[in-house]
Amino acid sequence: MGIKFIKDKKVFKLDAKDTSYIIAVVDDEQFIGHVYFGKRIIDEDVNYLLRLEEPPYVPSKNNRDRVSFYDSFPMEYSTHGIGDFRESSLQLRDRDGNTACRLQYISHEIYKGKKKLKGLPATFGDENECTSLEIKCMDKDLNLEVDLVYTAFENLDAITRSVRIKNCAEDSIALTKVLSTCIDFEGINYDMISLHGSWARERHISRKNISYGKHTVSTVRGESSHQDNPFIALLDSSATDESGNVYGFNFVYSGNFFTQVEGCQFDTTRVVMGINPVDFTWVLEKNEEFVAPEVVMVYSDKGIGKMTRTFHDLYRNNLIRGRFKDKKRPILINNWEATYFDFNTEKLLSIAKEASSLGIEMLVMDDGWFGKRNSDNSSLGDWIVNEEKIQGGLKYLVDEVNKLGMEFGIWLEPEMISPDSELYREHPDWAIKIDGRTPALCREQYVLDLSRKEIVDYIYECIKKVLSSANITYVKWDMNRQITDLGSICIPAEKHGELSHRYVLAVYEMMDRLTTDFPHILLENCSGGGARFDPGMLYYSPQIWCSDDTDAIERLKIQEGTAMVYPISCIGAHVSDCPNHTVGRTTPFETRGHVALAGTFGYELDVTRIPKEDREMIPKQVEIYHKYNDLIRTGDYYRIENFSQNNCFDVWEVVSKDKSEVLVTCVQVLGRPNYHSRRIKLKGLIEDKMYKLEGTDELFSGGALMYGGLNISLYGDYSSKLLHLIQL
Ligand code: DGJ
Repeated sequence: MGIKFIKDKKVFKLDAKDTSYIIAVVDDEQFIGHVYFGKRIIDEDVNYLLRLEEPPYVPSKNNRDRVSFYDSFPMEYSTHGIGDFRESSLQLRDRDGNTACRLQYISHEIYKGKKKLKGLPATFGDENECTSLEIKCMDKDLNLEVDLVYTAFENLDAITRSVRIKNCAEDSIALTKVLSTCIDFEGINYDMISLHGSWARERHISRKNISYGKHTVSTVRGESSHQDNPFIALLDSSATDESGNVYGFNFVYSGNFFTQVEGCQFDTTRVVMGINPVDFTWVLEKNEEFVAPEVVMVYSDKGIGKMTRTFHDLYRNNLIRGRFKDKKRPILINNWEATYFDFNTEKLLSIAKEASSLGIEMLVMDDGWFGKRNSDNSSLGDWIVNEEKIQGGLKYLVDEVNKLGMEFGIWLEPEMISPDSELYREHPDWAIKIDGRTPALCREQYVLDLSRKEIVDYIYECIKKVLSSANITYVKWDMNRQITDLGSICIPAEKHGELSHRYVLAVYEMMDRLTTDFPHILLENCSGGGARFDPGMLYYSPQIWCSDDTDAIERLKIQEGTAMVYPISCIGAHVSDCPNHTVGRTTPFETRGHVALAGTFGYELDVTRIPKEDREMIPKQVEIYHKYNDLIRTGDYYRIENFSQNNCFDVWEVVSKDKSEVLVTCVQVLGRPNYHSRRIKLKGLIEDKMYKLEGTDELFSGGALMYGGLNISLYGDYSSKLLHLIQL
């Protein structure tokens, strides 16, 4: 059993694979303290770590210094207003306007497996994979129940947390802050890694040394965002890719989030993560419950790389679902960069015909097929096929594509409404806006008020009709603007702060309906590129479009940062035309292919118009994809060289789980004169087994490859090469 309660000590011990997480109930007042999180230990009682015998002593022995106790004790779930002046996890407003809360242990339950989180995406696991613990605590003065919910995975170094709150009082209570995790770490000298960027340069890695004070990563954009990702790692300042303690935190949520690392006065460091309290309130009437989304916590005693591989395994096995969970995805060609809005049936069929002859397996029709959408100025909400462009109708087009032996996919942006649309003319109040104030446009569109069930039902029925009208086997679900002017005519003033979270819940509900009604459809999430690349979305879609920047060199940093947390099997990556539409750079077609292989792989170009030499390389790239995709999708990912740090060379590697096969990708961004070869050292192989380099007679031991290394020569800027080694 991965979780034990040691009754006489009142200790909860959660053991994941090589990780222990320990909680203790202390003092007559039943405080719940965080004792330990780190490498697995055999001890059941390490309560000395709580320093209960040191001043300021616990309240039952020294009530006069109660506030000092609250301000130094490592509370398992910190609450506002009683004396813990570090970041709180729970804050509220009761009938009288008071904001304080104090929790005491009441009871607990331990069970095998993991329960679903109502209405929310979350990791899952059966009775053999994980054990869960629910600690019930209470604020007795408020009659408020708070359940701290944990799951420990047996074969992975992952522990998840969420929180459930129930109002057992007669009066309503407004929750104004409900975070999902809080942990106090001993010491102050840590580094923090986070992922930041902008449109077209998402999830670049940032690492900085933190000390006293607060270091926040958050968003209020209504989506997890291009700018900030709901992930941080706290690590030893000396930690490397292979060594040192690393704690990764990832929030399974797609809306406003808040995470913070706080260096505190007694040289401890508090990490919190949860829904952003800005613009958040949730009113609980008597007996109503609120469920906070899940935080996944991964511990690694062997550096960043091990943390990465744990996230990858957990997400591939225990988060991503559906028909494509463990399957190779069809190679698709998307017409966005090929045509933008300028296409019709004939154009799409000419692309499909050429593409199918080259081995591409699916045509995806992107934005512009509906209403009168010939630019991004109109028609969102009018989910009716534009037969002036799609002559013969959608079914005809799909059937013709199918006849070429290809599948068909379609683009949708269900959460939006254009002011120039039939839908808006009929229902101007369906947009999120503040009564009496003109809302801000973004890409000439508003966001639908999905807190209203009738709107969700209407839009869902529209898209259901489209998806049922032809043999559609893929959907790209896009979301192209941030949410502003928060207001809904159906939410009363005191519940105004519920809108953002209700919106996210409604998106999840729509995706749940879509994946239930159309289980055969491969859903790819997208948000103006990668603005919703988060584990919440991964629960519904096994792949996410990583960035609108398809330039192979820009993608090195974007994909490196993304792959630090998210499996490469879910990273939407395509080969596009050059000069690249975003940065104007020209890179070899081969390099574009090698970089896109470290993702879902597809094309985003007009295959009828690219240079002949490029087109002729496609069948070879298709062959390479089929040859290596099982390895790339299921193997262990290792970082060898980081372009994000050295600015000239990038190398990554995927090793099969049984270590019998390895694929190494090397990209030389800038050539170096008068320099013969680079030495790269592989990782994760078996030292005393021999590996053969494909295409040569060369044999190397795993030890030679890892400790001696390989000499890599590449000529020219943006050049690349794949190395495939098989164990003899
Ligand atoms: C943003 C996406 O990232 C693009 O790939 C494309 O689908 C456009 N939206 C269409 O509007």
